[in-house]
Amino acid sequence: MRFIINDRSVEADVDVRTSLLDLLRDHLGLTGTKKGCNQGACGACTVLVDGERINSCLTLAIQYQDRAITTIEGLGAMGALHPLQAAFIEHDGFQCGYCTPGQICSSIAMVAEFRRGLPSVLTDDLTLEEIGFSESEIRERMSGNLCRCGAYNGIIEAIRSTFAQEDAGEKEAAA
Ligand code: FES
Repeated sequence: MRFIINDRSVEADVDVRTSLLDLLRDHLGLTGTKKGCNQGACGACTVLVDGERINSCLTLAIQYQDRAITTIEGLGAMGALHPLQAAFIEHDGFQCGYCTPGQICSSIAMVAEFRRGLPSVLTDDLTLEEIGFSESEIRERMSGNLCRCGAYNGIIEAIRSTFAQEDAGEKEAAA
């Protein structure tokens, strides 16, 4: 099977029943993506496929051949952290760090959903052109990513500050 992972073409000879998570971790050595519950409940295995967030434990790798898969290894590097990785450090968005790769991948896609105007269960007014980037909206939209250390306040602050800064930069550039 052929995959595109972090902008690189990768071939793997794996059983058709292999989950995307096991392909990444066990066959390709991309252990940044974590296995928590292995049943779709914790979000530790979240990766991006064509910019959308998915639980890689619930999907078969074969389904994602030739799609653009991004893992935490594709977002930043030592000495060149993704802004969200830097914000997680600055705002104490982790303790043990096990859920962090999933939290970061998930929040990148979550913000893209926000920007496309997708509502959450908390969005009262579906006619709004711009949904407020409020703490409660962020908490609701990130509720599929659990943190057993309870670092939620730092996680929310890291996400809020990173994307508020990005939005401010884009508005300034457009002005
Ligand atoms: Fe996939 Fe928990 S390991 S959701």
